[in-house]
Amino acid sequence: MKADGRPRSILDLTAMKAAGRRIAMLTCYDAAFARLLEAAEIDLLLVGDSLHQVLGGHETTLGATLDQMIYHAAAVHRGAPRTLLFVDLPFLTYQVSIEDAIRNAGRVLQESGAHGVKLEGGRPMAETVRALVDRGIPVMGHLGHTPQSVNALGGNRVQGRDADTAERLGADARALQESGACAIVLELIPAALAGRISEALTIPTIGIGAGPGCDGQVLVLHDMLGLNEAFSPKFLKRFGQLGESVRAASREFTREVREGKYPGAEHSFD
Ligand code: KIV
Repeated sequence: MKADGRPRSILDLTAMKAAGRRIAMLTCYDAAFARLLEAAEIDLLLVGDSLHQVLGGHETTLGATLDQMIYHAAAVHRGAPRTLLFVDLPFLTYQVSIEDAIRNAGRVLQESGAHGVKLEGGRPMAETVRALVDRGIPVMGHLGHTPQSVNALGGNRVQGRDADTAERLGADARALQESGACAIVLELIPAALAGRISEALTIPTIGIGAGPGCDGQVLVLHDMLGLNEAFSPKFLKRFGQLGESVRAASREFTREVREGKYPGAEHSFD
């Protein structure tokens, strides 16, 4: 671990859990925000395929491509070179074959400088996770609401409310841990279930809409900064109101340009 307690490598994640040190992760898609988040001593950064929604304005994550993920991950790594970085493997880059998964995850690490990949799914993905880990590619799992399966899940819904799905999620989490996953994102799961799953594992869980019993928490940066004002699910806490700041600053710029106040002499060259 680093002197400031942040993880230096994926090996520190389990040690952080054992020490009861909670893990803070945020999504990040560019170098400018990455610099700020590293200065804020965030533990982990995630280039989520949510970038397809947040930056691209799409309804789902399904259209994100591997090249897009690599481009954004490389930018984030340049901005935050000392922060542990995970990158989502987008839809269909790891589900078709284990060979695809190894080649695509390998490209992410090789071309972006990221430290690991995240992929969605439990037991059906266990063999793929094992194959990646055996080849030196750290994997973070993702269970509960898995956005790449939004069509099969019938929308963004809390998962694991009934005994069968709760049991299935527990078994999926154990399978990911046994396959060598270094952490698991738990998304939209009842707090009590997420707490039980977290207690049963030695690897950390990182929750989003999964309550306080997880070993860490993740939010989408733009949501928590208040840049995505139309999105306000119950689990989201806005830690900033940047939407309002951006509107006010842009209004001011527009006014000063129209009134001939900007640029003044102090912003002009002799
Ligand atoms: O794509 C993403 O941003 C994610 C987080 C919500 C965990 O998977």
